[in-house]
Amino acid sequence: MLGIIGGSGLYQIDDINIIDEVLISTPYGEPSDKYIIAEFKGKKVVFLPRHGKGHKFPPHLINYRANIWGFRKLGVDRILSISAVGGINPELKPGDFVLSDQFIDFTKVRPVTFYEGIYTIYDQSDDKDDLVSEYLKESRVVHIDVTDPFCKDLRDHLSRILSEKGYRFRSTGTYVATEGPRLETTAEIKAFSILGADVVGMTLVPEITLARELSMHFASLNVVTNLAAGISGERLTSDEVIQMMEEKNNQIKKVILSFIDAVPDKLNCNCGDVLKGAAI
Ligand code: HPA
Repeated sequence: MLGIIGGSGLYQIDDINIIDEVLISTPYGEPSDKYIIAEFKGKKVVFLPRHGKGHKFPPHLINYRANIWGFRKLGVDRILSISAVGGINPELKPGDFVLSDQFIDFTKVRPVTFYEGIYTIYDQSDDKDDLVSEYLKESRVVHIDVTDPFCKDLRDHLSRILSEKGYRFRSTGTYVATEGPRLETTAEIKAFSILGADVVGMTLVPEITLARELSMHFASLNVVTNLAAGISGERLTSDEVIQMMEEKNNQIKKVILSFIDAVPDKLNCNCGDVLKGAAI
């Protein structure tokens, strides 16, 4: 089943049938909000607003582990994550979509793994017959491969959908994840640009790596809401981020609905193998 994570300015999806709203508790604490179980064209999906309704959680205090574990409990095996980003690559304009295929991690204070060796937290009642449960039960230390952290198959579906709809987008990009909640300095953005970053945001990591630790497929639809610090010479505001997300809301919704409709149950990628041989 598909899980959709909404970012700043995306707290619900219009035009899908809501079946239920469920509160899930996890061994890692409370997820950001209730999960919305919905249906579109006979397919079930689960939606969660990353910051909670009313934008309660800043990026560095989101309980990413609880959010991702809650998806697992609901039977989600693939995630489409939507987020606002600042554009660093000079070819990017506000309003463009970017399908990141790499990340650089500059976050600092977030719990980053489910596999904490002797400190592992695990609740037997969450048991499934898979490597995730096996490694957690045995308190193993796990190093997942993130050479290519995003699901190639899900990204290909997004690329095709965006080109069919004629929206401006880049099919690849390197996302630099900052700790926040402050925005970046001009010098930081210059440095990130030299390092090869195309967009900057505060939430991709550890969301993607935690999902990958549970063997899930993960794709990220980034919306460039502003040019990154120091590029336009203007001061940055949260207002412009939310305003651009509102402007793009209709296009984002259309992409999500096509994605739900088009992605087959069986994917052609090797995300499912990530845990094989990863534990010590
Ligand atoms: N920096 C960090 N995160 C962001 C930005 C930005 O410029 N825009 C939207 N999210």
